[in-house]
Amino acid sequence: MQRSHHCAQLTKPDLHTTVTLAGWVDSVRDHGGIIFVDLRDREGVTQVKFDSALREQASHLKDESVIAVMGKVELRPADMVNQNLPTGEIEVDATELVIHNLADTPPFPLDDAGGDKVNEDLRLTYRYLDLRRPKMRKNLAVRHRATKSVRDYFDAQGFYEIETPALFKSTPEGAREYLVPSRIWPGQFYALSQSPQQFKQILMVAGVEKYFQIARCFRDEDLRSDRQMEFTQIDVEVSFIDREGIYTLFEGMLKKVWKDVLKHDLSTPFPRLVFKDAMNRYGVDKPDTRFAMELVDFSALFKTSSFKVFASTVTNGGSVKAINAKGLADITQGETVALEEIAKSLGAKGLAFIKIEKGEWKSPIVKFFSETEKAELTQRLNVEDGDIIFFAAAPWERACAILGRIRLEAAQLLVKRGKLVLRADQWNFVWVIEFPLMSYDEEKGSYAATHHPFTAPVVEDSHLLDSDPKAVRGQHYDVVLNGMELGGGSIRIHQPAVQKKIFEDVLKIPADVVESRFGYMLKAFTYGAPPHGGIAFGLDRMCALLCGTTSIRDVIAFPKTQKAQDLMAQSPTPVTEKQLRELHIKITGETK
Ligand code: AMO
Ligand code: AMP
Repeated sequence: MQRSHHCAQLTKPDLHTTVTLAGWVDSVRDHGGIIFVDLRDREGVTQVKFDSALREQASHLKDESVIAVMGKVELRPADMVNQNLPTGEIEVDATELVIHNLADTPPFPLDDAGGDKVNEDLRLTYRYLDLRRPKMRKNLAVRHRATKSVRDYFDAQGFYEIETPALFKSTPEGAREYLVPSRIWPGQFYALSQSPQQFKQILMVAGVEKYFQIARCFRDEDLRSDRQMEFTQIDVEVSFIDREGIYTLFEGMLKKVWKDVLKHDLSTPFPRLVFKDAMNRYGVDKPDTRFAMELVDFSALFKTSSFKVFASTVTNGGSVKAINAKGLADITQGETVALEEIAKSLGAKGLAFIKIEKGEWKSPIVKFFSETEKAELTQRLNVEDGDIIFFAAAPWERACAILGRIRLEAAQLLVKRGKLVLRADQWNFVWVIEFPLMSYDEEKGSYAATHHPFTAPVVEDSHLLDSDPKAVRGQHYDVVLNGMELGGGSIRIHQPAVQKKIFEDVLKIPADVVESRFGYMLKAFTYGAPPHGGIAFGLDRMCALLCGTTSIRDVIAFPKTQKAQDLMAQSPTPVTEKQLRELHIKITGETK
């Protein structure tokens, strides 16, 4: 029986035609004498009626069995019309039934609501069933549509899609890597590519000019809702381009994707925020700008305060910052304790707060505040009845980070109370720019590249590379959407001497190590490297936001669990002695 239509296709104009459908039994209802089956395929559902002749055969059907039916399209009786279904006015009166496979009872309900309630591990163990749920099917479709849209965009802009190796070499300065033992070279390893960064730069030296790739990347990181060990980047590199060129190119891509997938017109250009301002105003380099509650700096005000905790922080070079969580004075004690714990986990000594209720400022620390201090707080934080002010006093970056996190937590508490609405379909894109090129690692006593060592310094800061690397801004940019880092990239260093200087003089990597790790790149640059820059977008993160979910696992067909396992295929697993011998590997210590 060849399928003639899919299950979302048949409507009144098809009345009295003979059709063949195939798919899964979504539900069976026995109405004494007549059996009704909702037949489902990828596109939708059609009701099929089995009476007299086929009744006995149909009575064996259980949910999720796979069948094909031939029959005639008929009008449903008026009281059985389902206005919510495109096919709700008709049914197919079956004349033939082929049962391809009877199904066992699924371990969890396959509708959206039922499936959402079950443990995710169960869903991942039976991922093939989970993916039958309408929501998951839609997510797969959105991912396909978004990927296609990206390919079409770059093709139209004259880009080549080029594959780069997954088996690369170890580059310990990035994220932790997956090592792959070489059978042919005993004791030597490949590393799975963390990103095509080096290859795409080499492609620029090779004269490709415009490269893109939907690239699989591997990083041995602790997994979270927005992190997988294996994930996909929209990876791009362009020659003869500056930062402005990159911004325009990517705003164009996102505009097309949002239009193609959601039929939504994004407004461009996106606002830009320099790193310092992002930290000062939102306490984080990936701000959610859908709500204000901005951080305000009161260091100058409290420098001479009688509240010693604040005054001494400022005297020692730190900052005092505050936010006003409007309308959150009804916070419970449990909630403030939880916030304090979060602040402490980020290195806070405490989390001072003041509630304003019935015109009264309530907090043990208020007694230390002068009228001038209260007046300035009131004015700059727009303090009103029902508000709560949170303070952080710490070194600048830490004070920002603490309040940045408290800001997000307070927003969630307001959402819970119905006092703030954060719409998943409000698209607040922002470019975060001018990150510091280097960050100083106090513990190691050395500099590390804030992003990666190939980022070019901002031209007017370059002269500070020797004297004050911390003050040098990088030509790096991140695209942030509603508090999630979607992508990041930079204009690169293309002069071999500058690249060598960064490796050896700033990052203090010994010359022989630079040679063994990056020698080929430095050499390539001596043969005519064009100025170039690029960016990589997290495709999984972008699709998650397009689908309105917070977990990238929902937009990856076969993700790993938080514990880095594939519960369906059951991986990782031990391997045989013989395999290990061939790879020159000996297992020492205990295995789990
Ligand atoms: P970066 O490391 O910032 O840059 O990665 C770019 C984007 O990839 C996504 N991403 C991830 N998504 C899911 N799981 C992960 N474990 C994960 N790690 C990163 C994020 C991130 O913004 N080569 C540079 C880019 C460049 O400079 O061109 C790079 O890889 O969305
Ligand atoms: P203390 O005088 O140490 O009892 O602190 C008084 C209040 O200030 C308490 O609510 C502390 O949680 C808070 N606090 C202490 N240190 C800091 C700090 N560095 N930043 C913000 N609040 C603090």
